[in-house]
Amino acid sequence: MNSKIRLPLLLGISVFVVAASAADKQLVVHMHEHYGLVTAIQKAVIAGNLEATKAPARQLVERPAPPGLEGNWQPFDDAMRAAAQKALDATSLEKAAEATAELGNSCANCHVEYGVEDQFEKQAKPSFDDGAAAHMQRHMWAADRMWEGLIAPSRKIWKKGANQLVETALKPHEIHPNANRNVARMERLVHGIAASATRKKDGEGRVYSYGQLLATCAACHQELGMSPSTD
Ligand code: HEC
Ligand code: HEC
Repeated sequence: MNSKIRLPLLLGISVFVVAASAADKQLVVHMHEHYGLVTAIQKAVIAGNLEATKAPARQLVERPAPPGLEGNWQPFDDAMRAAAQKALDATSLEKAAEATAELGNSCANCHVEYGVEDQFEKQAKPSFDDGAAAHMQRHMWAADRMWEGLIAPSRKIWKKGANQLVETALKPHEIHPNANRNVARMERLVHGIAASATRKKDGEGRVYSYGQLLATCAACHQELGMSPSTD
């Protein structure tokens, strides 16, 4: 009895799923919770808020096993928990950024094992207005698509995000009144990481790029003493 149902995800995106049984539905709910937790970590890292990564990381470490899953799920579930533990133990935003990228890839590895694909819906394009706020919203849009591409895993979605992030860096005075040389360097770095991210074809390469990217978003927000809303 296959029926196509549509469930809202915790963070406002929605996905299609073919649900065959109650056990499958439970698994889908479990997956949506996974997604909500890892994305809470991703958003906290970007905002430069290390403290806010801890509760969702702990929940991921302590989660029950995925319900109703047959086959070789255990090593993949263990790897996901290990990455969550690394996020929980992280004492710097840089380490948390690295662990977050590893977490996303640990989801992807199990999705490959089970042939899961197309979990994420296409999203509307961001605003192309001038100014720092719109520029940042494009950063966020790109970082979110890369996140989906990492987790799915999908080369197409990953590339879409990375391509969007390849744009001209803002000049210091355009970024913030207190932008110093270090801030200007980080803005250029974001766009440089994006350029090399477009060429990453496997999980390992994406983990490297994504960890560096999140660490740079976090470092600049921290340097400017701000914790922007990343919802
Ligand atoms: C142990 C294996 C495994 C791990 C680890 C895993 N997943 Fe999944 N995931 C699956 C399977 C299997 C499905 C397909 C479920 C279905 O459609 O019945 C799935 C489906 C999904 C879906 C789509 C659900 C839907 O509506 O169809 C999302 C979103 C998802 N996973 C997110 C994640 C995230 C985020 C992580 C990492 C924190 C993760 N998963 C880790 C096995 C895994
Ligand atoms: C060079 C420093 C710098 C870097 C690097 C940086 N940001 Fe920002 N971010 C800012 C500043 C400054 C603002 C405030 C912009 C404003 O509203 O004028 C901001 C604000 C934001 C906002 C809130 C935007 C709004 O609508 O209020 C988001 C979301 C955001 N950044 C995401 C990111 C992401 C994602 C990255 C990494 C891909 C990133 N930022 C990298 C400096 C930076």
